[in-house]
Amino acid sequence: MCGIIGYIGHRPAVPILLEGLKRLEYRGYDSAGIAYIQQGKLKVIKSEGKISILEEKVFSNDPLHTTIGLGHTRWATHGVPNEKNAHPHMDLSGNICVVHNGIIENYTKIKESLKAKGIDFRSDTDTEVLVHLISEEYSKTQDPLTSIRYCLKQVQGSYAIGVMFSDRPKELWAAKHSSPLIVGIGVGENFIGSDVPAFLPYTKDVIFLEDEEIARLTTEHVDVYSLNTGDKIKKQIKTIPWDISLAQKGGYKHFMLKEIMEQPRVIFDALAGRVNYKTKRILLNELNDLGIPDKIHIVACGTSFHAGFWGKYLFESLAKIPVEVDIASEFRYRDPLIRKDDLVVVISQSGETADTLAGLRMAKEMGSKVVGICNVVGSSVARESDKVLYTQAGPEISVASTKAMCSQMVVILLMALYFAEKKNLMEPDKHNQLIMGLKDLPNILEKELPKTREIAKELSVMYSFARSFFYLGRGLNYPLALEGALKLKEISYIHAEGYAAGEMKHGPIALIDPEFPSFVIATKDHLFDKVVSNIKEIQARKGPIICLTNPDVKVSANHIWQVPDLGGILTSFLILPALQLFAYETAVYLGKDVDQPRNLAKSVTVE
Ligand code: AGP
Repeated sequence: MCGIIGYIGHRPAVPILLEGLKRLEYRGYDSAGIAYIQQGKLKVIKSEGKISILEEKVFSNDPLHTTIGLGHTRWATHGVPNEKNAHPHMDLSGNICVVHNGIIENYTKIKESLKAKGIDFRSDTDTEVLVHLISEEYSKTQDPLTSIRYCLKQVQGSYAIGVMFSDRPKELWAAKHSSPLIVGIGVGENFIGSDVPAFLPYTKDVIFLEDEEIARLTTEHVDVYSLNTGDKIKKQIKTIPWDISLAQKGGYKHFMLKEIMEQPRVIFDALAGRVNYKTKRILLNELNDLGIPDKIHIVACGTSFHAGFWGKYLFESLAKIPVEVDIASEFRYRDPLIRKDDLVVVISQSGETADTLAGLRMAKEMGSKVVGICNVVGSSVARESDKVLYTQAGPEISVASTKAMCSQMVVILLMALYFAEKKNLMEPDKHNQLIMGLKDLPNILEKELPKTREIAKELSVMYSFARSFFYLGRGLNYPLALEGALKLKEISYIHAEGYAAGEMKHGPIALIDPEFPSFVIATKDHLFDKVVSNIKEIQARKGPIICLTNPDVKVSANHIWQVPDLGGILTSFLILPALQLFAYETAVYLGKDVDQPRNLAKSVTVE
């Protein structure tokens, strides 16, 4: 999730670009750059690291007399964070530059064909193919619209782009498909931005570009064209009601809520380029030269540990590979038995968690291959793993991890299906149903989230009296119960304990009384009846119960919370946000600091 800003108007462009990038830093900033046109020449200045580093570099280049420019702050998905891979990217002539937010899924193929035509690539990014494709057509037609259309018709994946042509200093171009891009309408000036904070101090009047639309901005006009037909499209100007801080959270009150609600998009991005929906094959090329492991050791902390624990059930049931899951701080100090054909999978959103990193290093010292499932390109886990599967969830700002776990679960499910395919273990129907179910998941979740939030809000008020909560589940719902408990305790400060529902009678049930509620996950699966018996045991002791279940089941509880039944594994992706939203709404109701809970850090880089 990168940040884009573009400006064309009557003011010095560079200060506007840099301020705009700073307001977009929450979208990730492992590197940044700007481009502007000065005396008919394109100038590009880029740097690794924070915007402030770029700022120093820019002002030593005296760029102030220019009124058109593009800026970009990068959250790497392809190519490690460094100056070379920072945007904007230029064509070989130095006449055209592009900034991009999104994932070009077929960039490898395009890059190969462009290299065969003698195009030298200067970066490892997917983005660079865009500027060379535009340049290829522009050199023939000198027509920006035709050239941008020519380029975008060849790419698959998601993009929001800004484009400048040095021989056209009075126009700025933009286009989008699936990644956000907004046009800001000023007086004698116009803007583009990935999000409204980029230009909100200058105007609240905007045009939301739709997919397959291309925009041409001059100081006085904005014209929008159809990518498919090239025809001009009439667009409505809307007014943004937010102030800056609300705008950086996409209009949500907290980053945590924004990140929970982003999960449909996160699933889409985690899947991007990794499934061939025609052949139903899983495309995890990063794993191609790894053999099939005899055993998998999963090592992680906190929420990532819960994702890994959830994954254990899938690797064993789908791929018939035995799995051991360890909390990293335990793994690193016990003598784990790792054999040469075992695989160690470390899971870390930040890629910097000290215990997980130590576990990774220990596994490598023991001669094991390590796959890192990570959300930060170029992080320590990413760099030190033998293979990396990026979760592509975009920056997660809230300390409480939400969308990261969702993306980790997608990647883990793909890995389990990948190994099952390699071992010829998948029944075609079940495999195809899972693959197509994954494809539909973003839309289903998009529809479910508003209702899920409403129920979470209602129940959070009713149960805010609790001083302790049990979270119970069996099978795949047990790791989810652990995660639900972690979410509640870390942001609402209500004690909560996740437990295997079948374990209640071995002691914990002694705690149940009318003041001690239980949150029981009872989805329609082979364990449903067992969980219902556990519910009855709790009810016999007058414990209040919220039962998170599916429609058309027979179960009694103080509150029944139904989510659609997507069939075992995929239902987990509806259960998780329900647990997250219940914790979120409880914390909000109790007036807690949701995004920065007390005593916690976003990444625990110390032991
Ligand atoms: C989860 O809400 C917490 N913020 C915490 O448990 C976190 O999941 C854990 O510290 C692991 O972080 P990582 O995924 O960045 O390694």
